[in-house]
Formats: sequence, structure tokens, C-alpha cells
Amino acid sequence: MMKWFGAARFIEAGPAAGEAARDADASQPAVVFENVGKSYAAGAHAALAGVDLQVARGEVFGIIGRSGAGKSTLLRLVNGLEKPTSGGVRVNGVDVGALDERALVALRRRIGMVFQHFNLLSAKTVHDNIALPLKIAGVPKAAIEARVNALLELVGLSERRDAWPARLSGGQKQRVGIARALVHEPDILLCDEATSALDPETTRAILALLRDINRRLGVTIVLITHEMEVIRDVCDTVAVIERGEVVEQGPVWRVFGDPQHEATRALLHTPGHELPDDLAAQIHASPQAGAHALFDVRFTGEAAQEPELATLAQAFGAQGVRFVHGGIERIQGRAQGRLVVSAPVQSAAEAASLAERVRGYASRVEVLGYV
Ligand SMILES: Nc1ncnc2c1ncn2[C@@H]1O[C@H](COP(=O)(O)OP(=O)(O)OP(=O)(O)O)[C@@H](O)[C@H]1O
Ligand SMILES: [Mg+2]
Repeated sequence: MMKWFGAARFIEAGPAAGEAARDADASQPAVVFENVGKSYAAGAHAALAGVDLQVARGEVFGIIGRSGAGKSTLLRLVNGLEKPTSGGVRVNGVDVGALDERALVALRRRIGMVFQHFNLLSAKTVHDNIALPLKIAGVPKAAIEARVNALLELVGLSERRDAWPARLSGGQKQRVGIARALVHEPDILLCDEATSALDPETTRAILALLRDINRRLGVTIVLITHEMEVIRDVCDTVAVIERGEVVEQGPVWRVFGDPQHEATRALLHTPGHELPDDLAAQIHASPQAGAHALFDVRFTGEAAQEPELATLAQAFGAQGVRFVHGGIERIQGRAQGRLVVSAPVQSAAEAASLAERVRGYASRVEVLGYV
């Protein structure tokens, strides 16, 4: 755990609650799901089944999936708000299922939670909303003041400390929600659709704040979102949940650059994974006289290398080569994408040998057909 605000770590009142949970073992992943199943009622369709996931310490881990897929359930298992029906969840190496009530309370202080609808108390000021969990924990007044002031500064709300929630914008409300989630200096922050109620510009500002908290304070963040740009912008790793199962997971550049599962493609509306209708309608399975072969050229590797156009065109034979469809984008500093290229060929054999040649410059090359 990194330094909070460069200040001495704030000491909590009361007996050393949950030392095991507090002294996060840095060699352990932040969260481990092992073959987790969850059913809310006997006989009901399982909300989660056979979930294996690891959230590395210090990363931003995104969870995406259709409505009802089990995302919130997954998050609630982390802080013990829900219990798995089978399998186990470990946080900082500690089996959440084995904790008694008191240890669970201590664990929850290590885990902050941010909600879509902010969940602020309307009858308390910004300051008092943030101070409340510290008051409840029996923290001395002076320590509370120091902590709340530092948090207000962190989230950029020092000027609004005495404002009522009703007078705040959505983005400001969420800043209060984030400050409140950080009062116990957690090492994990859970965000369930924290930006879903915000406009795009405010969303970007809140994401920048979360990323800053992650980078500067070393807080591991697990977030659920329906906004794919959120994942692309701030997450290191992403898991795709479909009907209670993890159908795909990995670094964002790979999952977004080369989605494998139908559910992922549907969520991403992956452009270019389907050919445009007009193009698809023109494709023949074998070459006719004067035909062009259509090649699907993918750049989905780990290398940050963008395709070198002249080289690519040369590999296709240069004359009459056209870029027909597709595009390249950068995700986590890696060029990912696809170009559909047409080139004149005399035969299927020639198309195959061109594809073979171009394979040296791309991650994958396929002959789609002939136009
Ligand atoms: N407290 C509960 N009692 C009974 N069933 C529940 C409960 N919470 C969730 N479920 C069911 O479990 C499944 C997964 O729900 P969950 O809320 O985890 O989905 P989600 O992916 O978060 O969906 P959304 O994107 O709509 O928030 C759904 O079928 C839901 O109806
Ligand atoms: Mg949910």
C-alpha cells in the first residue's frame, strides 16, 4: 500500500480490528474467485457459476456484461455482502467466507464502495457525509477533521465542504461518494456503475479521479460499467460475464482488440467484425475473371507496431491494392484493428500465396473471398 497524502498513516481507534485483513499481503492478489457459484434461491437459475478470476494488486479491473449477467453479485461477494453458494472468495489472501461478523466489519473497512446513485445522506453536509463513517468507527475529532480535509482536497471539493447534497451536481455528488469510500484508507475500491448517471464530460472527470487514486495511492479498483469507453480508458484488465459465467478475460487491449466471445462482440458492437452488407453481398467463393481477392488483415498482437502502409501494399503486390474497410486504434499503447484489403488476383492459389506473404506483417490474414 502506498502513502496516503504523504502523511503519517491515520491510526484507527479501538482494538486492532482485523489485523489479518488490514496487513494486506503484498504477494497475494487483491481478490481471488475460486470456482464461485451463487444462487439466490434454491432451484432458481444460478446468478454465478464456476467463476475463476484474479484481480492483481494495484490494477483497475473492469467487469462488463449484459443486464442480469451477475456483475453486481460478483462485486458484493468481495466485501461479504453476499456469500458464495459454492467455491471461495479471497481478499488479500484471506478467505472471506471464514470471517466472523467482527472480522467482516474490519474487512469492509479495507474495501471502499462507490454506487451509481451516490447514496449520500441528504440531511448531512458534504463534510458530515464523509465524516460519518469515521465517527461511527470512534475516530477522535481532530483526526476526523484532518482526514476529511485531505479527502476533500483529493476529490477537489474543499470549497463545497458545507454544502448540502441537493445543491451539488451529479459529478460533485459522486466525488463525495468517492471521498466517503476512501475514509478508511482502503486498499480496494469497488465501483458499481459509478458513472452511469453522469454525462460524458463528467464521466471523464470522475474516471480521471479514479485513475489518479489508483496510480497515486495504489488502490486496487474493481469497476462495473455499461460504458465501454470507461473500460478502454481506465482499466488494465477486463472480464466479460454472461449468464453468470466468465466467458472472456484478459488485458483490455487484447479483449477489445480481438474479442473472441459473441457476448463481448455484442457489448463492444465491434466495428468491422462483420463486413458491411454491401460488401458481403458482392463476395464470391471463387475468383472470376478480373477478380479482386478480399483479405482480412488483423493487427491484434502485443506489439505496439502500427501497420506500415507501403510495406503492406508492397506485400500485396502494390498495383491495384485498395484499403476497403476497417481501421486501427490504440488501446493501452498497442495498435489494434483490422484492415480489409482488396488486391487483383488470377487464382485462388495466388490469393493464398499473397495472404502467406502478408502474414509476416500482421497478426492474422485470411482470404474472405472474391469481388
Ligand atoms: N438479492 C437478490 N435476490 C434474488 N435474486 C437476485 C438478487 N440480486 C440479483 N439477483 C438475480 O441474480 C442475477 C444477477 O443479478 P446481478 O444484479 O448480479 O446482475 P448485473 O449483471 O449486476 O445486472 P445489471 O447490469 O442490470 O445491474 C439476476 O438474475 C438477478 O435477478
Ligand atoms: Mg448490477
